[in-house]
Amino acid sequence: MIVNSEKMLLDAKKNKYAVAHFNINNLEWTKYILETCQALQVPVILGVSEGAIKYMGGYNTVASLVKGLDKDLKLTIPVCLHLDHGASVEACSKAIAAGFTSVMIDGSKFPLTENIRLTKEVVKMAHYKNVTVEAEIGHIGGSDVGSADQKYFAKLDDCLKLYQETKIDSIAPALGSVHGLYKGKPNLDYNTMRKINDNLPIPLVLHGGTGLSKEDIAKAIDCGIAKVNINTDLQITWCNSVREFLLNNKDVYDPRKVISSGEMAVKKRIEEFVTLFKTPKISKL
Ligand code: 13P
Repeated sequence: MIVNSEKMLLDAKKNKYAVAHFNINNLEWTKYILETCQALQVPVILGVSEGAIKYMGGYNTVASLVKGLDKDLKLTIPVCLHLDHGASVEACSKAIAAGFTSVMIDGSKFPLTENIRLTKEVVKMAHYKNVTVEAEIGHIGGSDVGSADQKYFAKLDDCLKLYQETKIDSIAPALGSVHGLYKGKPNLDYNTMRKINDNLPIPLVLHGGTGLSKEDIAKAIDCGIAKVNINTDLQITWCNSVREFLLNNKDVYDPRKVISSGEMAVKKRIEEFVTLFKTPKISKL
């Protein structure tokens, strides 16, 4: 069942758990996530970056892939198809036209007024089609650009302004998390996270889930995080398994065998994340 993220994230905020957002890269990846979440009976968000969309062929291909799997795997769980880090109104518009149920407009590299202007435009277009919108504030980059630096952190007043002027459905405030691998120990600003959560009626999103400890995740959920984004961890998990398989099976050339040698490890990690995020079964929602 393909849905937007409104109901699942509001419930997560209210009941202090998080819904997993896993980035997808190909058919197999998408199938592993959907099969695992269906078996666990938990809602899930499939995040697709513009780069991954280009890699897979385009917006329509991605939307058709997810719609096809929803039907063929007879999914009964809520699945949200989300554009991750949409960089422009045009990217969001293409995702919405193709059937994505949620979009992120990432105006975080612009001054607040421009971020608000862009986000407002996307919200108007998205809400008309019942598509939910996530926006970013402060700036969450990679550890290479030093995004864990406090100068990139989101401020409560700016979050309030962004929400009040745009009526976004969820917000990703930069509070020390980074995409990819952390340099040193992650140091998230939980106080501001809690303040933002207490002052805004919408759910908070944590980008850069890879490399955070169990304690970090538990604290973040307690401070209001309702969605945790995971990409790099599953990539490393898959890659390690495939590398080992290829080293031990030099005569194998069937791509299905090569690619699926990472399946069990990826599925195990997905289950571990869902358990860590305390996502309840849909029967309890
Ligand atoms: P990681 O790659 O660090 O898990 O972050 C994923 C993410 O935030 C995607 O938006």
